Amino acid sequence: MNTQHFDTLIIGAGLSGIGTAVRLNKEHPQRSMAIIERRERMGGTWDLFRYPGIRSDSDMASFGYGFKPWNSDKVLADGPSIRNYISEAAEEAGLLDKIQYGLQITESNWSSDQQHWRVTAVAEGSDPGENKTRHFTCNFLINCSGYFNHDKGFRPEFPGEENFNGQIIHPQQWPENFDYSGKKVLVIGSGATAVTLVPSMADKTEHITMLQRSPSYVFTMPNNDKVSVLLRKFLPEKLAFKIVRTRNLIVQRGLYIACRRWPKMMRKWLLNGVRKRVGPDVDMRHFSPNYMPWDERLCAVPDGDLFDALREKRASIVTDHIDSFTTDGVRLKSGDEIKADIIIAATGLNLQMMGGMELKLDDKPMPLNQQMTYKGALIENIPNFMWVFGYTNAPWTLKSEIASQYLCRLFRHMDERDLAVVTPRDKENHALDDGIMDSLQSGYVQRDKHCLPRQGSEGPWQVTMHYGKDKKVLLNQPIDDGCLEYQAIRKNSSGGNVTPIAAAA
Ligand SMILES: Cc1cc2nc3c(=O)[nH]c(=O)nc-3n(C[C@H](O)[C@H](O)[C@H](O)COP(=O)(O)OP(=O)(O)OC[C@H]3O[C@@H](n4cnc5c(N)ncnc54)[C@H](O)[C@@H]3O)c2cc1C
Ligand SMILES: NC(=O)c1ccc[n+]([C@@H]2O[C@H](COP(=O)([O-])OP(=O)(O)OC[C@H]3O[C@@H](n4cnc5c(N)ncnc54)[C@H](OP(=O)(O)O)[C@@H]3O)[C@@H](O)[C@H]2O)c1
Repeated sequence: MNTQHFDTLIIGAGLSGIGTAVRLNKEHPQRSMAIIERRERMGGTWDLFRYPGIRSDSDMASFGYGFKPWNSDKVLADGPSIRNYISEAAEEAGLLDKIQYGLQITESNWSSDQQHWRVTAVAEGSDPGENKTRHFTCNFLINCSGYFNHDKGFRPEFPGEENFNGQIIHPQQWPENFDYSGKKVLVIGSGATAVTLVPSMADKTEHITMLQRSPSYVFTMPNNDKVSVLLRKFLPEKLAFKIVRTRNLIVQRGLYIACRRWPKMMRKWLLNGVRKRVGPDVDMRHFSPNYMPWDERLCAVPDGDLFDALREKRASIVTDHIDSFTTDGVRLKSGDEIKADIIIAATGLNLQMMGGMELKLDDKPMPLNQQMTYKGALIENIPNFMWVFGYTNAPWTLKSEIASQYLCRLFRHMDERDLAVVTPRDKENHALDDGIMDSLQSGYVQRDKHCLPRQGSEGPWQVTMHYGKDKKVLLNQPIDDGCLEYQAIRKNSSGGNVTPIAAAA
């Protein structure tokens, strides 16, 4: 059996995997490293999704990497630009030959005797008869696999859909070169995907309707950053970027705190913004959710493009429940019918951890959802394992970046003390029966929250989703806090491993 060994193995070449690899490569160049990616290209989310208008809804100054300024006047970015940005970051850091594509990691099994992970990967798309399995070992495993199932989005079955004569599409499987010009299109849903699709398709369709079961908060985000343009004229690029990023972080956090603290006031403010933009002909019922801002995510639309499409009657919005599909559209519970040639089910994602990989500890399954996260970066009781998971109430990358900086600190700490293994342990029963995203009421979270790791009542076991606090915890607090248990590097007389002994934390 041919096995490749690396000091560090990263699962996934998306925004998090490449960002983590850039930092590690810079700060710990002596550690051998590989990135194992299931797809044939890097970019993760930004390579997978190809539907019209695909874009970020976070501003790129804070969604992009802190080490690589996002130099564009546009606040939001389209999918291909984000993919190129990730790819540029990998190339600039000399990582291209460290990525192995087309390999899905299916199992990682920690060997306490060997002090390493045994990792099994399957080559996707191999020819029949070819040996599809690849084996790796590594000392430290870093999971950067994102949080959703890349194979299949959430696609409920609708009554009578077999009768529909047109095409039904889920945005996660957008057909290549799909021509929808001159067609009647119905988009089901009003999450970030739906509000992106509707204005992007509206110019080509005969008509496009957004059919929502319940309204979402939608707000206008200016897509040209005039301050950034001005600053970049007069200041060095890095300084201008730093100022804009800091301003954006303050504004985002302020908006989030205001929504949590003064929900009624913020609701009024958000709805007023919609009213001004959408014009008097659109019923505000469609934009008045029955939850408070940030109980579920807010949807940003660049320069109010969705509102413009509605005001100009290139698109329409309906709030109702689906009774059934008919031969030429859908019948609603109200009795109304909407005719369509194409129905797009923008009904969401399925959460999935580690791309479905099984985690084992000395051959025994170690499900993630039974362990707490430690500082939102490591996982209780799992040795030499990092689980990168970004923010859901702020740009994802902010967290993935400070988590990778923490890892660099942890490696330095361990190297200086000849330590080989680190395992977070909860000695004081902090565990709660709370998942790390339970507070978010969005459908995709509530459906699959059981698969996420747990959190605890306090300290490093509590997940705050607060960048300022996490920065202090991950970058400033001492590494040793009594919750990390170590094992020393131990060699026998012939230089191999002997059974490790626990060293005090
Ligand atoms: C359409 C869309 C838009 C979004 N927009 C925003 C936004 O504006 N702001 C924001 O903060 N967040 C946004 N998100 C959330 C988004 O997923 C993250 O922000 C970010 O891109 C995640 O990066 P990642 O590298 O952690 O994961 P991913 O992008 O999911 O990449 C994970 C990579 O790991 C690979 N992989 C997974 N499992 C395995 C395995 N077992 N073996 C080998 N390889 C594996 C995958 O193939 C993939 O390439 C968006 C999500 C979606 C779906
Ligand atoms: N540009 C971006 O930034 C971007 C783009 C896409 C996705 N994302 C991220 O990806 C995640 C998922 O977004 P998403 O928009 O794909 O999904 P989502 O937020 O889960 O929204 C799904 C939509 O489908 C509706 N729906 C689900 N089942 C339905 C059913 N049986 N009948 C009728 N309607 C149904 C939901 O209605 P209810 O609300 O009534 O349940 C909701 O409106 C989010 O984290 C989002 O931020 C971001």
